[in-house]
Amino acid sequence: MSMQHILEAIQADAPGEVFAELAIPESYRAAHVLRAEETMWDGVASEDKDPRKSLHVGDVPTPEIAPDEVYLAVMASSINFNTVWTSIFEPLSTFGFLDRLARESEWATRHKQDFHVVGSDASGVVLKVGSAVRNWKPGDRVTVHCNYLDDQDPSAHDDSMLATNQRIWGFESNFGGLAELSIVKANQLMPKPSHLTWEESAVNALCGSTSYRMLVGRNAARMKQGDNIFVWGATGGIGAYAIQLALNGGATPVGVVSSASRVKLLEAMGCDNAIDRREENYQFWSDEHTQDEGEWRRLGKKVRGLLGDDPDIVFEHPGRQTMGASVFIAKRGGTVVTCAATSGYMIEYDNRHLWMKLKRIVSSHFANYAEAWAMNRLIDQGRIQPVMSEVYALDQVGDAAMKVHQNQAEGKLGVLCLAPEAGLGITDPDKRARIGEDKITLFQRHARGEL
Ligand SMILES: NC(=O)c1ccc[n+]([C@@H]2O[C@H](COP(=O)([O-])OP(=O)(O)OC[C@H]3O[C@@H](n4cnc5c(N)ncnc54)[C@H](OP(=O)(O)O)[C@@H]3O)[C@@H](O)[C@H]2O)c1
Repeated sequence: MSMQHILEAIQADAPGEVFAELAIPESYRAAHVLRAEETMWDGVASEDKDPRKSLHVGDVPTPEIAPDEVYLAVMASSINFNTVWTSIFEPLSTFGFLDRLARESEWATRHKQDFHVVGSDASGVVLKVGSAVRNWKPGDRVTVHCNYLDDQDPSAHDDSMLATNQRIWGFESNFGGLAELSIVKANQLMPKPSHLTWEESAVNALCGSTSYRMLVGRNAARMKQGDNIFVWGATGGIGAYAIQLALNGGATPVGVVSSASRVKLLEAMGCDNAIDRREENYQFWSDEHTQDEGEWRRLGKKVRGLLGDDPDIVFEHPGRQTMGASVFIAKRGGTVVTCAATSGYMIEYDNRHLWMKLKRIVSSHFANYAEAWAMNRLIDQGRIQPVMSEVYALDQVGDAAMKVHQNQAEGKLGVLCLAPEAGLGITDPDKRARIGEDKITLFQRHARGEL
């Protein structure tokens, strides 16, 4: 049985019984890295590591599904920064994660392979469900969030991001979403927004849910109406959802970007306060070891000029380059919420500015199922839009990852897996028209130079 039969059933909108009868192919096309190549970048500078050389697209064997899992026909996926990390084997080779997972249970041993299928986002159709799956059935159109955990562990039952064995699917587990088929736990599934294409539906879960937890959920910064929110990388993956969540929640965002073109995109999103960090030429570090407080002050003054006040929340992820400035500019009593450290994870800031002004640094990491579900619902309601700027074929996954690695992509890059072309998968065109084609496709129109 080939993938073609599966695709035909999806395109014919076949009933669930038809999907349940389809045989699962013994192998499938997937983007993966190879264990044999995990030292290939030794001695190479980060920026020179080229994901096009380490990400391969080819057949891998199909594993069995565990009772709590489903086979998913993946129509589309997206590039996340974690796929860049895997492809450049930084800060660690992800094969170490797979080997550790394999030690946890008999089913987990499947993950220890000499290939690692990457990808932590997906939209698609459920093909078969394991014997313990209750809420989903063959034929369901779904999106997937990447919080992968063992729900038989008590530590997973308050906030599941606190589970001792919490992992990110397709990064710390195998059989991820950048493939024509995937293995997904039933508790990763969410309904696909009916007004979006496969690729528009596939780009939101990882970045959108991360931003939701950081800003809106009760576990991190807990944004309120009227708050001022300072967002680094405001047209990037997580930043572009943060800007939308701020606007949708009655807050005032100020977004930082690095080009006039990104300022234009930010303004088109409805964010009136934009800072072009390249034009302003902030030099927060005067040398490798010394930060320049004068430059923090210059940024703080700029923000006050725009907002009339200091930010209640600083949405932080660049890390070493910006954390000193982020702690400085946050309002007295304000919150710096961080989920990453793209420019380096050994962080330095002046602690006097933290304690004397009673500020908080709050950590955040992806989202629990309830938070991911809440974000998916906002997207389904058309209150938050997908920030997809471009679409790539699965074969071009290396090019797409390279673009993200080089900070040349806006928002999210979609990847077509089984979907033969972009634009398919909308089942409620009236809803799409009500929400507005222009709003939904803003990032794509910007990428085509149409703004
Ligand atoms: N913990 C989690 O669950 C989680 C989830 C998602 C992402 N992340 C992490 O969060 C980070 C951002 O992810 P993303 O998907 O938003 O990436 P992205 O799409 O590449 O966007 C990041 C943006 O940050 C800005 N930036 C990069 N380096 C910077 C620097 N040195 N100083 C100031 N701004 C800088 C860039 O915007 P401008 O150049 O326009 O300023 C860039 O567009 C990554 O490290 C990723 O791994 C973590």
